Amino acid sequence: MSNASQDDNAVKGKKKLYVKTYGCQMNVYDSERMVETLGGSGYEEVSTPEDADMILLNTCHIREKAAEKIYSELGRYKDLKVEKPDLKIGVAGCVAQAEGEEIIRRQPLVDLVVGPQSYHKLPQLEAKAGRGVKALDTDFPEEDKFEYLKARPKAKRGPTAFLTVQEGCDKFCAFCVVPYTRGAEVSRPADRILTEARDLVERGVRDITLLGQNVNAYHGAGQGGVWGLAKLIRELAKVDGLERIRFTTSHPNDMEDDLIAAHGDCEKLMPYLHLPVQSGSDRILKAMNRKHTAEQYIRLIERLRAVRPDIALSGDFIVGFPGETEQDFEDTMSLVREITYGSAYSFKYSPRPGTPAAEKGDRMVEDHIASERLQRLQALLTQQQREFQESMVGREVKVLFEKKGKYEGQMVGKSEYLHAVHADVSDVNIGDIRTVKIISSATNSLRGEIV
Ligand code: SAH
Ligand code: SF4
Ligand code: F3S
Repeated sequence: MSNASQDDNAVKGKKKLYVKTYGCQMNVYDSERMVETLGGSGYEEVSTPEDADMILLNTCHIREKAAEKIYSELGRYKDLKVEKPDLKIGVAGCVAQAEGEEIIRRQPLVDLVVGPQSYHKLPQLEAKAGRGVKALDTDFPEEDKFEYLKARPKAKRGPTAFLTVQEGCDKFCAFCVVPYTRGAEVSRPADRILTEARDLVERGVRDITLLGQNVNAYHGAGQGGVWGLAKLIRELAKVDGLERIRFTTSHPNDMEDDLIAAHGDCEKLMPYLHLPVQSGSDRILKAMNRKHTAEQYIRLIERLRAVRPDIALSGDFIVGFPGETEQDFEDTMSLVREITYGSAYSFKYSPRPGTPAAEKGDRMVEDHIASERLQRLQALLTQQQREFQESMVGREVKVLFEKKGKYEGQMVGKSEYLHAVHADVSDVNIGDIRTVKIISSATNSLRGEIV
């Protein structure tokens, strides 16, 4: 940083915070809240690490690659730290929770380590850390980590937002670190969620995605007793000005009758559902501790499609889970062919320290076989995604416009099915929902014109 800009900072009196976010949407939500939290300590967000007085990485531990990325990113800050000895470097998120002190041992540049349930302690940790003093907190306290933010002044924001309603997971799928990094399932009380939603709407939000590692297991305290996710969605739907509701990520075993019904009769609940199945082989599903069969998943999707025929489905898949045979993999391919996904994510199995699958030491699928299977699965999923997108051409869809496009007069928004849609517009504002006729489909987006 030049002296001139350092002087500017001094004049403005604001310290600069650079946050880089990895992993799932919950980390995106948490990062936003951490920026607000550190706002109270005199920080404002900047977009480059070179300008920062504090760098905070909000990390993901889900696969080995995700976790290793953090160390290479930290290594890049070496020169910056030499240049600016007061620079504070923090690691938050799931790597912080999983590795704790080990992070500081491996990378002594790090001043602060904070686990996902301790973000409300950031101001104290930040004040303590730096110039050789390390601060660490990876507890799982009882209190709601962002509850105190209620009192802060709120800025205007864009038309879409995430809202965490549930955190943690009790499912213990054999491959997954989440129950260890995020802890046991905790649902936020319904009134706090409704208050936060109303507040978001007042600030310009029209589309809210409810978040949870296991969001459809939501069971929060509400008026008259415990509310499930369906009840919460129906109450949120009564909020004037909130036009669209989505939720992610769900487990098939928690798709209860009233939630399926809501997909049919709650107009604000969007026709899009991310419902990971991981594998189409019953043998592998059992080894993964998913506690359902491929057939049960297929029947579930049938019930959803019965109430909402146009629902777009998305999923997650793991290939190369220990013991997976060619036949098991073929079962996954058949399931994908039978379901037809609008989009999906697929990963090669990555053994994670501390998880049952990694500890059991079952025979690993050879890497080149797993890679080849992943390629075949991704080719099929990509083809389905393209076909689904192309099926939109000629149709009229409702688009919520989110921002200006690359070209003059163009705006970009999302369809109800979560497709990105570009359109040439003249009298459309950010946050408007308009009917758009789709005229063409590109790799990752659609183009249309306002009807
Ligand atoms: N809570 C979500 C998933 C969170 S992790 C759910 O239950 O659906 C997101 C995805 O990462 C998982 O659905 C799974 O497909 C993948 N994943 C998790 N652990 C993995 C591992 N050890 N190796 C490869 N992929 C993994
Ligand atoms: Fe992980 Fe399974 Fe919980 Fe999802 S349901 S977060 S995959 S343990
Ligand atoms: Fe990653 Fe933690 Fe989310 S491991 S996927 S950041 S819950």
